[in-house]
Amino acid sequence: MRRTLIPRDKRLPLEQLAPYLLSVSDPPTPFDFAAIFDNRQPVELEVGFGKGGFLLQSALSHPEVNYVGIELEKALVLYVATRLAKRGLRNARLIHGDARRVLPLYFPDACCQAVHVYFPDPWWKRRHKKRRLFQEDFVRHCERILQPGGQLLIASDVEEYFGVMTDLVRTQTRLQPAETPPAPTDPQWMTNFERKALQEGRSVFRAAYRKVAEEVSGQLISGQSAGNTSQSVPSASPAAGSAL
Ligand SMILES: C[S@@+](CC[C@H](N)C(=O)[O-])C[C@H]1O[C@@H](n2cnc3c(N)ncnc32)[C@H](O)[C@@H]1O
Repeated sequence: MRRTLIPRDKRLPLEQLAPYLLSVSDPPTPFDFAAIFDNRQPVELEVGFGKGGFLLQSALSHPEVNYVGIELEKALVLYVATRLAKRGLRNARLIHGDARRVLPLYFPDACCQAVHVYFPDPWWKRRHKKRRLFQEDFVRHCERILQPGGQLLIASDVEEYFGVMTDLVRTQTRLQPAETPPAPTDPQWMTNFERKALQEGRSVFRAAYRKVAEEVSGQLISGQSAGNTSQSVPSASPAAGSAL
């Protein structure tokens, strides 16, 4: 598996990073984001935040929004937690884990106003394609955790994979195409992979989708519900370490 090397001197000691890390409980109990952030601000999720450029810039620019990131590589989680800690950004938390397992177990229905997935690994080799983040279950959980009106925002520099991503959203969810936000022109807002793609002259494909509330017998409902989310929702205490 690919590993990103982040020198140890680029990160603060774990005790200082703990307030920025969300651990997952065993047995699993869904996150209560109002308790975690100690406020009822809307929550946005970024899956696979890499070096954290987008997450950091978003948290800095929108203190009225809470940001949660999930990232598979621990070194990147600690590196980005260091970037958050150095700026004292308390409206962001990071989870070390596989989003394909974290979303079903820990994210309640309709808990996010946006889900961002930028430049997911394409896993080129045929035998590795099952490692791709975008699978049927993943897009269904993205839909489930969005509030009505909430958006899924995606980008890739791999046309074939982008086609797979958009086909999955179209066939597996009831999300509706939405106006795609303009590509960032300020490098501060670009993800690391976006910057690289542009430097190397590659095209970037992006799309946005909105969850539309459905009307059933005069009542507005927010779409499908997925198992496991009707449990009680205790507060999850921020802590370092555990991962899925
Ligand atoms: C190609 S990088 C893109 C990083 C960043 N979004 C960017 O645009 O610079 C993909 C990232 O997704 C992470 N990732 C891959 N599969 C994941 C999964 N199942 N759950 C969480 N993160 C994942 C990888 O570790 C990596 O950091």
